[in-house]
Formats: sequence, C-alpha cells, structure tokens
Amino acid sequence: MTIMNLQTSEVNLPEALVERLKSYHWQKVNIGWSRSEIHKLTQSKKPTLFLKINDYSGDLFFNKEYEMLKWLKDKISVPDVIYHSTNSEYEFLLLTEILGKVSYEVFSKSDIETNLKILAEGLQIFHALPLAGCPNAFDIDKLIQYAKERLEQGLINDENFDVRWKHKTPDELFKDVKRLMPKEIDEVVTHGDYCLPNVLINTNELSGFIDLGSAGINDRYYDLAAVSWSISYNFGQKWVPYFFEKYGINNDEIDRERMLFYQMLNEFY
Ligand SMILES: Nc1ncnc2c1ncn2[C@@H]1O[C@H](COP(=O)(O)OP(=O)(O)OP(=O)(O)O)[C@@H](O)[C@H]1O
Ligand SMILES: [Mg+2]
Repeated sequence: MTIMNLQTSEVNLPEALVERLKSYHWQKVNIGWSRSEIHKLTQSKKPTLFLKINDYSGDLFFNKEYEMLKWLKDKISVPDVIYHSTNSEYEFLLLTEILGKVSYEVFSKSDIETNLKILAEGLQIFHALPLAGCPNAFDIDKLIQYAKERLEQGLINDENFDVRWKHKTPDELFKDVKRLMPKEIDEVVTHGDYCLPNVLINTNELSGFIDLGSAGINDRYYDLAAVSWSISYNFGQKWVPYFFEKYGINNDEIDRERMLFYQMLNEFY
C-alpha cells in the first residue's frame, strides 16, 4: 500500500502498518511548517488513530517524540504509541487519539477565558513534572549554535519574520538574539511547542497534549514565549496577561526580554 503526496512522492508503508490499517479511512489532517505529514485514520468499529510520517533525511525526529511519549505516558495525558519504525527514508509513528478540540476553536469571550485557564493549567502540569529520567534535554548554547548553522546555510527566510522585526535581516536578528541571551534559565520539563493547536480540550476540560517532538528539559520561558505568541496570533495580544495571571506570574514579573529572546530564536528553526 502506498499513500500519495508526502513532498509529492509516494510513501511505501511498512508491512505491519499495511496489515493493521487496511480497513481504515485515511484523511490527511494537515501539512504545516514541519516536514511531517499527519493522517487521521477512522474505522466505524475501531478507535480513531493518527499516523505521523516524517521524511527525515538523517534527522530522526520521531525518535525523540517516541521516547518522550513513553516517559510521559503514566504521568500526564498524551497519546499512546501503537507503532514506531523507520526505513531508509521515513519515520512512522502511529498514535491513539486524544479526544477533544484544539484550543483555538472558540467562539465567544467566555470561551476564550475558559480555554486560556485550561491552557495555563496544562502548562503548570507540564512544568511541575519531575526532571529525573526525562529522556530529552536542551541547552541554550546548542540552541543558538543550531540557529547559527541554519543562518550560515542560508536557510532563514525573512519574509516569514514576525511583524515586530520584519525590517531586519537574518544577520541583524541573530545579533539581537545573541545580545538578549538570558543569563539565567529556569529548567523545567517543557512541552517544546506549546501552541494552541497542540493542546486538546474536551467539554471544557483539559483532555491532553500532542506534538511532543521538541519536549524535554529546557527553560520555562521557552514554552511561555511560544504560548504567548500563539495566544496573540489567535486571540490578540490583549489576552496574554490573562494567561500569565492564570499561570501564576504577575504582569510586572514577566521577563519580557527572555520572551523576546525565545521568540526571535524561533525564527531560525
Ligand atoms: N493523537 C492525536 N489526537 C488528536 N488529534 C491529533 C493527534 N495527533 C495529531 N492530531 C491532529 O493533527 C494536528 C497535527 O498534528 P501534530 O500537532 O502532531 O503535528 P505537527 O507537526 O504540528 O503538524 P503540522 O506542522 O503539519 O501542523 C493536530 O493539531 C491535531 O489536530
Ligand atoms: Mg502541532
């Protein structure tokens, strides 16, 4: 069985997956900014599944997601891994469904408030996890080094820059990143991509977290910067202080430089 369309090529599925998935209906969920492709698999008599396929070209991205999902499994609500494998071109990760809606699907002000409370609660739960045994860890020097390598390889497209620094060249922005590099970091278990599409809410309760390929020990502000950007993008900047209040940081205590640092750094990934 082949499925069309991953970067315009055909993907040969491993035999074990062909067997397991043959009666399912396939629906491509989206292709976002990642190199991954996500399919929702439904079958009237069986639970819905999600298959993530990554064209990895040497970078085993799902290995990290797989390790984190195994470690998080008994601690917080994340998908169960049903199958994980790699061949010479692709990685496959078959997951159970987290029920609910992604947290930007709201229609009224009170929905926004409810969802922001749930998002804050979710991040508190994440950041309260014990560090011991966490299989992934990030280091600020390596994050900057990686950004530098991508810059030197000419991979940074300033057309996609945030409006706040749209007038800068990638080199200028990288100088700012280095200047703003935090002196102190506050290590917690981070989600690594804590944006609204990666948190699921079911009947006004936190249902679970998805997309954990960048999760691991990192600075608390790595997540705070990401979620602030996502709240601002989806609901407007005015809602960011409300989130911080619910998370437990007063408006005058927010480390704005550190947020800016991670938001700028993110432009290089
Ligand atoms: N286990 C799951 N349970 C419920 N929904 C899921 C699950 N996995 C993926 N999804 C849905 O698919 C979307 C994309 O999946 P995911 O976040 O894991 O990949 P991604 O790398 O962000 O993909 P993209 O960059 O294409 O958005 C999610 O926002 C969600 O709507
Ligand atoms: Mg996602």
